Amino acid sequence: VSGGSSDRAGGSIPTGWGMKRILVIGIGTGDPEQITLEAINALNRADVVFVLDKGDRKAELTRLRRDIGDRYVKDRALRWVEVPSPVRDASTPSYKEGVHAWHAAKAQVFATLIRDEMKDGECGAILAWGDPSIYDSTIRILHDLIATEGSPEFEFEIVPGISSIQVLTARHKIALNAIGEPVLITTGRKLTEGIPGGISTIVVMLDGGAGLDAIAGKDLQIYWGAYLGSEDEILISGDVRDVLDDIKRIRAARRAEKGWIMDIYLLRRAT
Ligand SMILES: C[S@@+](CC[C@H](N)C(=O)[O-])C[C@H]1O[C@@H](n2cnc3c(N)ncnc32)[C@H](O)[C@@H]1O
Repeated sequence: VSGGSSDRAGGSIPTGWGMKRILVIGIGTGDPEQITLEAINALNRADVVFVLDKGDRKAELTRLRRDIGDRYVKDRALRWVEVPSPVRDASTPSYKEGVHAWHAAKAQVFATLIRDEMKDGECGAILAWGDPSIYDSTIRILHDLIATEGSPEFEFEIVPGISSIQVLTARHKIALNAIGEPVLITTGRKLTEGIPGGISTIVVMLDGGAGLDAIAGKDLQIYWGAYLGSEDEILISGDVRDVLDDIKRIRAARRAEKGWIMDIYLLRRAT
């Protein structure tokens, strides 16, 4: 069974009649208006929506997913199934091994949901934050699950979404790339290993703060954004040497107040 079928929203010939189908739907980064028509149509095909709940601190994000469902699915009540999201064990000495174990636990959760919460021929939706292809494990996990003997049979489709990268560049009114130049998308963890040379634009996601520490004193422009697409959105830009302390101070304060933060930044070298 392949997940890469051509039977997309609006397509006319279902490939696996009676087969369970998972729709991984990109929902943007917090603003319910940043959802595409394709995503709305996909939501309206879903019989059940699966939510991996990340606990009290991020309850706001689960609520937002529900709001999106209520706002865009009008003619019937969506069935929501919420289960606790497995958590990565940060004490595992090898980061990669920790991630591997975490993904395996998530795969088991998906397998159980598909087996127990869906009837043959039904559509289940997984709402992915931003775009499902960017620093999100769902696609990889579903491919692995399909390849795993004894797993429930299903097909899946991906509906792209507006990523935090696009919201960041739109809010700061900048182009993602310098003219004719490549872009590196990386994590805060990777940035601590050294700032890659020869690349004019670096986008940093998933930074617990160490990446910001690693750029202190550097001759770089930074375009930073937190809680993009929400009422709490914060934007700061400028020379790293001028604005980094402000970013770190505001970041720490907001994180302490809300209990969590999601932030992203773009670094640009003068060309
Ligand atoms: C697990 S990744 C998911 C990325 C997501 N798939 C996307 O396309 O934006 C989470 C990271 O995305 C970035 N991010 C996601 N939503 C954000 C938001 N609303 N504001 C700022 N950064 C965000 C942050 O760097 C965060 O650590």
